[in-house]
Amino acid sequence: MAGFTSFPSASVLIWISSLLLASYACASEAVYYSVPLVNGLSWSFYESSCPKLESIIRKKLAKVFKKDIGQAAGLLRLHFHDCFVQGCDASVLLDGSASGPSEKDAPPNLSLRSQAFEIIDNLRERVHKKCGCVVSCADIVALAARDSVYLSGGPEYDVPLGRRDGLNFATRETTLDNLPAPSSNTSVLLTELATKNLDATDVVALSGGHTIGIGHCTSFASRLYPTQDSTMDQTFAKNLKEICPTSDSNATTVLDIRSPNKFDNKYYVDLMNRQGLFTSDQDLYTDSRTREIVTSFALDEDLFFQQFVTSMIKMGQLTVLTGGEGEIRANCFVRNSDNVNLTSAVEEEDQEAHSEL
Ligand code: HEM
Ligand SMILES: *[C@@H]1O[C@H](CO)[C@@H](O)[C@H](O)[C@H]1NC(C)=O
Ligand SMILES: *[C@@H]1O[C@H](CO)[C@@H](O)[C@H](O)[C@H]1NC(C)=O
Ligand SMILES: *[C@@H]1O[C@H](CO)[C@@H](O)[C@H](O)[C@H]1NC(C)=O
Ligand SMILES: *[C@@H]1O[C@H](CO)[C@@H](O)[C@H](O)[C@H]1NC(C)=O
Repeated sequence: MAGFTSFPSASVLIWISSLLLASYACASEAVYYSVPLVNGLSWSFYESSCPKLESIIRKKLAKVFKKDIGQAAGLLRLHFHDCFVQGCDASVLLDGSASGPSEKDAPPNLSLRSQAFEIIDNLRERVHKKCGCVVSCADIVALAARDSVYLSGGPEYDVPLGRRDGLNFATRETTLDNLPAPSSNTSVLLTELATKNLDATDVVALSGGHTIGIGHCTSFASRLYPTQDSTMDQTFAKNLKEICPTSDSNATTVLDIRSPNKFDNKYYVDLMNRQGLFTSDQDLYTDSRTREIVTSFALDEDLFFQQFVTSMIKMGQLTVLTGGEGEIRANCFVRNSDNVNLTSAVEEEDQEAHSEL
């Protein structure tokens, strides 16, 4: 500042203070751009090959959410499952994957909404119609999760792009091994997420995804029956017992009672009031290692938003395929080598090529 003291004109001062304001407003960007990028991903991957990509997705999802905001939660969870099981490679979408569209019987079967799969393939169709088959399903899933957060009232952030779609199915075992159970305590969460290079702050911030969406009774009934979890608020527990009269009831309830459809920091306020739905949620406040992080997010929404973005960008780069690895699927549910439509199209082309000879 000292260098400017010889120019005390009002306009310069206004200019300086607006610069200060601007750099202050961009503070959150500085945070997320400081997340190191995996080799092969970039902030501008489709800038020339599909410049309309992000606006196509944003526009369609805004329409979808206007009809049913619940779909935002389904899409956010889909990206989480994709990244945790075998990396963000769209393996979660494959027919034949343990949590993919054809195997909803494999646990965790209650969690993924079938519409989420349909929305992704609908977006893929729109994007490929505009740009050709150049954008991966894994990138579409990551962008749909970002828009789900933003369009529900959360922070907007840039997504590193350039993921390729995987060729391997996610097995029942890898799905079970990689997705923490809602009955997990904080010790288990910290240990499991540490294997993915996510620390305690990431664990608390990412769990904030539960600020939107719903859960089934079977995901938390063990906290009600046969004995009530002592860390639950009494009135909250009483209401949950009405929603879930038995432990195998197939009813659902919201994850964040204060603002179930809004992406905000109220999830952490719930935890401070012993109104977290799953053990994995409430124990973040019970455990002294994470309690203060919960409190800090409950008190400061901007802090939560900044940390959530940082942690999402970390999660979104878990063992991604890039460059010549994997493929760009023409149908998000089917590997290209299993896609009869592609095979017949190629065969027809081959025949045409032969008849020209
Ligand atoms: C930390 C460990 C986590 C556990 C144990 C967990 C567990 C669960 C469970 C059991 C459900 C409800 C399934 C059902 O009963 O229908 C659920 C829903 C949900 N989860 Fe998580 N989750 C975790 C992390 C995450 C992360 C990292 C995100 C995203 C950033 C996320 C986003 C969601 C959303 C949005 C829903 C609601 C889905 C809907 O309404 O369709 N979760 N989670
Ligand atoms: C979910 O999977 C579990 C374990 O395999 C099974 O017992 C249960 O019936 C399944 N539920 C649904 C709704 O498919
Ligand atoms: C957390 O859960 C694990 C597995 O159920 C258990 O062994 C451990 O004792 C629990 N830790 C705490 C602090 O409750
Ligand atoms: C619960 O399950 C029963 C029997 O499987 C079914 O008839 C009913 O429609 C389900 N209810 C809900 C809300 O999904
Ligand atoms: C093949 O094309 C038909 C008709 O367009 C479509 O319904 C089907 O889903 C496609 N199958 C695959 C594997 O892409």
